[in-house]
Amino acid sequence: MKTADAIVAEWRDKAGSIYLKEELDQREGLVREILELKKEKNAIILGHNYMTPDVYHGISDFIGDSLELARRSRDTEADIILFNGVHFMAETAKILNPERKVLIADLKAGCSLAESMTGEDVRNLRKKFPGVPIVSYINCTAEVKTEVDIICTSANAVKIVESLPSDTVLVVPDGYLAQNIQKHTKKKIIPWAGKCMVHELYTEFDVDVARKSFPDAKIIAHPECKEKVTAKVDFTGSTSQMGKYIRESKANQVLLMTECSMGDNLRAEFPEVTFISSCQTCPHMKKITLEKVRDALKYERFEISLSEDTIRRGRASLDRMLAIV
Ligand code: 13P
Ligand code: SF4
Repeated sequence: MKTADAIVAEWRDKAGSIYLKEELDQREGLVREILELKKEKNAIILGHNYMTPDVYHGISDFIGDSLELARRSRDTEADIILFNGVHFMAETAKILNPERKVLIADLKAGCSLAESMTGEDVRNLRKKFPGVPIVSYINCTAEVKTEVDIICTSANAVKIVESLPSDTVLVVPDGYLAQNIQKHTKKKIIPWAGKCMVHELYTEFDVDVARKSFPDAKIIAHPECKEKVTAKVDFTGSTSQMGKYIRESKANQVLLMTECSMGDNLRAEFPEVTFISSCQTCPHMKKITLEKVRDALKYERFEISLSEDTIRRGRASLDRMLAIV
């Protein structure tokens, strides 16, 4: 078990890749309080890759993409799970481990994709396309999870679609993820028109300019970007797969088309790689701050609560995915 001093030293080292020494000095007390509270309350912190470096390093017990964090939340025996990410991720943790108290530091940390579709929208799609299986991206509300057949994430979307015994598949709510899946399957994909407000901002023109300006850089995008964008980049994958690609390709120069903190966190992990900034900020992810994390643990807020029926039906869709990948 690492001591608090060792964790703080690691936090200073990693978060130090973007913060000034004075800023680290100001925040160090909060980090120590958070470490104490975690111990006192038998709590764990799950941190999504888009958390700012001060919230991500040191204080997180596990960091990762949506799929990895869903698995971690299912498997923990801690009394409290504090999810540093957005609301649908905390809801997913509650569905997968309903015995635990699941907290999120700011209830307004939402997601434009999750907000683009309701359970009623799914029921209407079923009526319109009877017999066609419905896959939902994990970036959806718990209510949508109860209505669909199976969940996928950015790390496994094609595999999930391919696993279904049907030539036609509905993919909701992300229309661009659906476009990107279509490129890799012979099945007919029927999309919903949801968009990530961060990734939709990238255009193919951005990739052309980046290529001309930085011919040696590996360009990496998230599958929430338009297909016209992903068609031109070197690699498309989930937030954790981006790190894996950088490691395996031994890239020297990287340009990321994704959320800003991803680059900051990868810069700390790969100090030898030059990261060219081309990022967009997710205002939802940025709602999670060190102060709010401390308060969430101190006052055990804000708790995610879901009905038994939502948990049971949402769990069925998630379990079908987890049985495949
Ligand atoms: P990942 O599952 O790839 O981490 O993506 C989550 C997300 O919200 C990206 O915008
Ligand atoms: Fe949602 Fe996009 Fe923010 Fe991810 S980056 S949480 S998909 S709005």
